[in-house]
Amino acid sequence: MTATAAETYNDRVVRQFAVMTIVWAIVGMAVGVLIAAQLVWPALNFDIPWLTYSRLRPLHTNAVIFAFGGSALFATSYYVVQRTSHVRLFSDGLAAFTFWGWQLVIVLAAITLPLGITSSKEYAELEWPIDILITIVWVAYAIVFFGTLARRRVRHIYVANWFYASYILTIAILHVVNNIEIPVSLWKSYSVYAGVQDAMVQWWYGHNAVGFFLTAGFLGMMYYFIPKQAQRPVYSYRLSIVHFWSLIFTYIWAGPHHLHYTALPEWTQSLGMVMSLILLAPSWGGMINGIMTLSGAWHKLRTDPVLRFLIVAVSFYGMSTFEGPMMSIKTVNALSHYTDWTIGHVHSGALGWVAMISLGAMYYLIPRLFGRAIYSVHLIEIHFWTSTIGIVLYIASMWAAGVMEGLMWRAVNDDGTLSYSFIEVVEATHPFYLVRLLGGLLFLGGTLIMAWNLWRTVAGAKPAEAAVVPLPALAH
Ligand code: HEM
Ligand code: HEM
Repeated sequence: MTATAAETYNDRVVRQFAVMTIVWAIVGMAVGVLIAAQLVWPALNFDIPWLTYSRLRPLHTNAVIFAFGGSALFATSYYVVQRTSHVRLFSDGLAAFTFWGWQLVIVLAAITLPLGITSSKEYAELEWPIDILITIVWVAYAIVFFGTLARRRVRHIYVANWFYASYILTIAILHVVNNIEIPVSLWKSYSVYAGVQDAMVQWWYGHNAVGFFLTAGFLGMMYYFIPKQAQRPVYSYRLSIVHFWSLIFTYIWAGPHHLHYTALPEWTQSLGMVMSLILLAPSWGGMINGIMTLSGAWHKLRTDPVLRFLIVAVSFYGMSTFEGPMMSIKTVNALSHYTDWTIGHVHSGALGWVAMISLGAMYYLIPRLFGRAIYSVHLIEIHFWTSTIGIVLYIASMWAAGVMEGLMWRAVNDDGTLSYSFIEVVEATHPFYLVRLLGGLLFLGGTLIMAWNLWRTVAGAKPAEAAVVPLPALAH
């Protein structure tokens, strides 16, 4: 073929989403650091309503999941589907619409959440006009993605696209079903579901947002970028197919583990627990497939910090998908629920898996997209270590705090009274919150170093040819 990549593929939209991935990573994590600091020093809300913890917390979760994670998913899915289907995106116009539409959703979220406008459903806080906009953008996304697949020039659909496809389809269903609501004004609506049904639908949504937004799409990244960066084929293509079908079948049943010991029927809770335990198998099958792709090329980990980002991400994926099934066991959940153990679990998945794989993928993509060689491999090394140490400080402090909280809450004296008042538990947690803040600052600091490195890369003049192998030091 004589056409260049620039003529063949639509990389403009990929570039736009890739840049916004970095921007939203910094914004979302900075809000995370602020709320972590508020938990140490509550006065940091300055008595200003829109700076209160309760309003900034959903801003953090929406910014990191949908703005940062979402932009990374858009960027990589558009890049991967074109490269593996050997065809340009189905429609440049619709692709551009998804970019501007998604950024508008994020800006509306950033305005409404601090104003206290919320549906109060976790991870689905945005009010109905924004929900409708999300639906329209998502339908356009699905048309672009599936339209591109339909026009592919190769018979085969590469496994990464299966994962991206399942995430796009499932998120559409989850979003629409969980947000069926009756508007009472422009900025207020009520869910059509009531009581325990509302809770069940919400956590069917919530858990599958984890399974399909925070997992399936990022597994798509794993299946494309690890083989590319390692220059090795996927360890087992057969395993990847088994991984795909078993994962998507099992995830959809596990939601009730968020509702243990509630008014939800007992059998539903137990079913959720059993399906969560089964989920360990496909999750680890995927992790093994990702890590073993390096077999025969382990030495590359010594010299290639980008590969290290990707492989450490998959290791954290393995860790959080071991921990999750354990936490879904009812007797374990009786201790972990409501404690910071859950927050530790969340961030071993969110920072360790989601953020590390996305940032690794951006190190792969951005030099190629802009036709420039990376400015400094050494800075990638520094970023890798700052963020890894940051994650360890974050999750270790939250595990310790969580187990401590659970044990202190349930401790009783001989006469049956509680051994500790609530405030004593809060006081005991204080030092752990300080360590978490430090971990968060390190992670954010690493991301700022990355932004600077990439900025110098894009603005710099290292020639385009070098960008084909963007990390010259790693070429051996
Ligand atoms: C610098 C990095 C980060 C810091 C300092 C940070 C900090 C925090 C804090 C303080 C909370 C509230 C915890 C609580 O209520 O007790 C939180 C919640 C949360 N964060 Fe982060 N975060 C960071 C990065 C991320 C990333 C990258 C993601 C996702 C990709 C993420 C996803 C979440 C989620 C889902 C929750 C809600 C957890 C729950 O409700 O159980 N965070 N974060
Ligand atoms: C096999 C896989 C997994 C299972 C079975 C699982 C299970 C669980 C369980 C039992 C909880 C605690 C529920 C509670 O006590 O309220 C939980 C919370 C959570 N997990 Fe996982 N987990 C898995 C993987 C992951 C991964 C990979 C991520 C992130 C990328 C993640 C993100 C979360 C979040 C955000 C929450 C907090 C939800 C909330 O209360 O707001 N999980 N998970």
